[in-house]
Amino acid sequence: MQNVQARACAASGVALEEAFTVDEVNLYERLGEETLKQLSTNFYNAVFEDDAAPWFKSIFAASDKAVAIENQWTFLVQRFGGPQLYSQRKGHPALIGRHVDFRMTHAGAKRWIEHMAIALAETPGIDDDSRRRMMAYFRHTAYFLVLGVADVRARRKLQQQQQEQQQEQEQQQEQQ
Ligand code: HEM
Repeated sequence: MQNVQARACAASGVALEEAFTVDEVNLYERLGEETLKQLSTNFYNAVFEDDAAPWFKSIFAASDKAVAIENQWTFLVQRFGGPQLYSQRKGHPALIGRHVDFRMTHAGAKRWIEHMAIALAETPGIDDDSRRRMMAYFRHTAYFLVLGVADVRARRKLQQQQQEQQQEQEQQQEQQ
């Protein structure tokens, strides 16, 4: 089976080299913490008010907006070459695991990316080159998360079925 990264390339249309051009420059140094904070604020302000797509907004219904903003900007600072602010607060990002309980679909990835594209365009201080690099990374990662979560769920289901089969076998053996 193709690995998740390769499948995310196919689903997002973003080649791997393109997805990781964020690592060729230090975006944290280039943009600064305040800009990344503003980006996450703009992004989540729009997500939490997404009345055009209530199904998408509802994915975030259990989250506190201020906490979601902090989770995201500290992650972005860390991911884009700055101090490990996210991990200091919450440990390893392990993003697939942290998304496993949410409704992660291709439609959701598309909507997430749409919001991020607008937030990137509307946040002052983000130059075109940085925006392009970040968009490629976000587009790829959104599908990477959807596919990764699907794999985790499939694996869990299989394990559950195997456990049930084993229990059935054990019960049958006891009855013999
Ligand atoms: C958290 C949904 C894509 C990074 C969350 C949360 C939801 C969510 C509902 C909880 C909000 C909170 O309380 O922090 C989605 C959906 C996506 C998506 C539906 C697209 C299908 C992405 C992408 C990234 C990302 C592309 C980064 C590249 C994060 C981070 C957190 C988070 C860092 C905080 C995790 C934590 O600390 O628990 N996401 N997300 N997400 N998401 Fe996403």
